Amino acid sequence: MSWAVVTGASGGIGLELVRNLADREPNIHFLLIARREEELKKLVAELKEKKIRAEYMVLDLTKADAPKKLRIGFVLRDMPFDISSTTRASVGGDASMSSLCKTSMR
Ligand SMILES: NC(=O)c1ccc[n+]([C@@H]2O[C@H](COP(=O)([O-])OP(=O)(O)OC[C@H]3O[C@@H](n4cnc5c(N)ncnc54)[C@H](OP(=O)(O)O)[C@@H]3O)[C@@H](O)[C@H]2O)c1
Repeated sequence: MSWAVVTGASGGIGLELVRNLADREPNIHFLLIARREEELKKLVAELKEKKIRAEYMVLDLTKADAPKKLRIGFVLRDMPFDISSTTRASVGGDASMSSLCKTSMR
């Protein structure tokens, strides 16, 4: 199973990226990340109607513990990730996202 982790999925570019990718790659399982839970829930429901699997994590990526929470989220789902989109430039305010990505990919 392939996962797509999309941060900033509750609006703007991230939301459109999810919709676009879901139309082209219906077998991908999405992990959607942003702060606004209601928007994430709506998108999960929209994808479910198209028979596309999606989960969400409510996360503020500017917080220092964001990389740790992301890592826990990945481990809990036993997930590698194959497609990553970060529509916010900073994660946890430092460069820890790159090490997170490296250690999370199989
Ligand atoms: N639109 C453009 O034409 C354009 C052009 C060049 C570059 N960019 C850059 O691309 C990025 C996305 O642009 P956009 O137009 O899609 O922006 P947007 O409409 O403001 O969307 C930003 C997304 O990021 C999420 N987000 C914001 N702060 C967050 C945080 N602290 N933690 C977690 N999620 C957060 C928002 O969700 P929540 O509020 O729910 O957290 C939302 O889903 C921005 O960095 C922008 O500067 C945009």
